[in-house]
Amino acid sequence: MRVELGDRSYDIHIGNDWLPQLMPLLDFIPKTSAIMIITDSNVAEIAGHRMLELMRSGGFKAELAAFPGGEDHKSLITVRALTERMVESGLDRHSTVIALGGGIPGDVAGFAASVYMRGIRYIQVPTTLLAQVDSSVGGKTGVNLPQGKNLVGTFHQPSLVFIDVSFIETLPEREYLTGLAEVIKYGIIWDSSFFGFLEQNQTAIGNRDPEYLQHMVHRCCAIKADVVAQDETEEGIRALLNLGHTFGHALEVLTGYHRYNHGEAVAIGIVLAARLAAKSSILSSRDHDRIKNLIFSLGLPTTYERLASSDLIAQMRKDKKSVGGQLQLVLPTGIGTSQVFGDISENQIAQILY
Ligand SMILES: NC(=O)c1ccc[n+]([C@@H]2O[C@H](COP(=O)([O-])OP(=O)(O)OC[C@H]3O[C@@H](n4cnc5c(N)ncnc54)[C@H](O)[C@@H]3O)[C@@H](O)[C@H]2O)c1
Ligand SMILES: [Zn+2]
Repeated sequence: MRVELGDRSYDIHIGNDWLPQLMPLLDFIPKTSAIMIITDSNVAEIAGHRMLELMRSGGFKAELAAFPGGEDHKSLITVRALTERMVESGLDRHSTVIALGGGIPGDVAGFAASVYMRGIRYIQVPTTLLAQVDSSVGGKTGVNLPQGKNLVGTFHQPSLVFIDVSFIETLPEREYLTGLAEVIKYGIIWDSSFFGFLEQNQTAIGNRDPEYLQHMVHRCCAIKADVVAQDETEEGIRALLNLGHTFGHALEVLTGYHRYNHGEAVAIGIVLAARLAAKSSILSSRDHDRIKNLIFSLGLPTTYERLASSDLIAQMRKDKKSVGGQLQLVLPTGIGTSQVFGDISENQIAQILY
């Protein structure tokens, strides 16, 4: 599938257990110029060494750079270490970075590639469900600052996204579920028949059946590609991808990023957005129930532990996506449709929190 962005267009390839098929897709990369595979130390064991061997057997001068995983290492310190390593390994302006792993290696490697020698090519090989359906497509890169997440970053589109759903087999259940939250999000904001597919195939999805995974990842990438092609830098409809995220980020921050992982917080955030929409007569109670039921039955949380609603609202107001201090909230208006609302009052929000 193609992400249409003029001279920055690129293809997303999706298959099962087909990593060697990456090689013929790399014929645009000169063999004379070095490749750096960037990953976290966990994925290095699972897939990094295999990728390194594959590249070398294909005649590339490749190296593997692994940094410790986790949000604490999604930092400028890691980027500095990686870019210094890139210099030492002889990467030049024609070199290529391969971002191998979940959203963290993807964001870090993409950012490093975007600033190294003012920007070099990179390829995304995502290995978590979240990265396969979300972070590997769209060109957002970035790292955290001590003051907050993703505060430093760039838009830098990859040259290719190569997805092998067999990576999902080894993913811990909680990481799998975090990706599913984003999957459900696409159904709600964009595609009612895909939402129906998720409702009807919960067992196969829960079992990570590769055929269903491929369909799921394909559909999500197609939606993201469509949204990004229409609004690369989030001036308009790309904001719909933030459904559940304003509530979710506030929950993550207030619980110190320990209680919920990203997808769990987003799942709760989607339920809160649906409740707010239903209460404001934007969404039917039937559609509200379908959203909540799907999230619940796929194994994601729908409620949060007690937090003062005033704290939640205060935290939401700090959202990066606020405009002039006014919250921009994505609310579902049906299954498959959603809108950004800039006029929801804090009083309305307070009424649906508990
Ligand atoms: N750029 C974007 O558009 C975008 C979009 C959404 C999220 N993000 C970012 O993505 C990050 C979260 O991504 P994530 O959830 O993939 O986190 P992650 O990269 O930390 O991966 C989660 C865990 O799974 C492990 N792992 C990865 N692949 C595995 C595999 N195949 N088998 C077993 N274990 C594996 C990792 O080592 C890690 O411990 C956040 O930092 C978020 O800000 C970016
Ligand atoms: Zn998200």
